[in-house]
Amino acid sequence: QAKPTRSDIESAIRNIPDFPKPGIQFKDITPVLADPRLFAGSIDLLIGNFKPGMVDAIVGIDARGFIFAAAAALKLEAGFVPVRKKGKLPYQTHEQSYDLEYGANAIAIHIDAVKPGSRVLLIDDLLATGGTAAAAASLLQKVGAEILEISFLIELKFLAGRDKLQNYPVRSIISY
Ligand code: PRP
Ligand code: MG
Repeated sequence: QAKPTRSDIESAIRNIPDFPKPGIQFKDITPVLADPRLFAGSIDLLIGNFKPGMVDAIVGIDARGFIFAAAAALKLEAGFVPVRKKGKLPYQTHEQSYDLEYGANAIAIHIDAVKPGSRVLLIDDLLATGGTAAAAASLLQKVGAEILEISFLIELKFLAGRDKLQNYPVRSIISY
């Protein structure tokens, strides 16, 4: 069976108007996950040209990023490191706050999540304003990780999230 293309994956992403708030077009990735061919294809595209041995850990962002990052970690024979919403990690953490449309939130990483100098990929499902990924990148700086790339299944270009990630190579599979 042929590998799915970006446009096959894009066709399966469901647009939900006015969720979770009026005016927001929510990109529902659950139909991609439910289709084994599309799910596997999306992991292959997220990994890009990286091969086993090139990366020490894949970092995923709570919650939807975990799905893609964990699968990519197995495929690249790398470890998986969670960046979690504040208050969820049990050991000592670094925390970083970031702005939301209304208010702020914070994410955290264990202080010993990676060995200093580890080569990591940061993966999340979606790049919107870039606040979440920029906060995760700053946590990775704190633990001494070397970020090889930040990749997203979906990028909402009109929100210019990439502008907050200028210090890193950024790649997305599907953009709107
Ligand atoms: C969503 C999405 C990204 C983030 C992108 O996560 O999964 O992580 O927003 O937004 P930004 O680029 O404007 O920061 P969210 O925390 O809403 O929910 P989740 O826990 O389901 O991943
Ligand atoms: Mg998220």
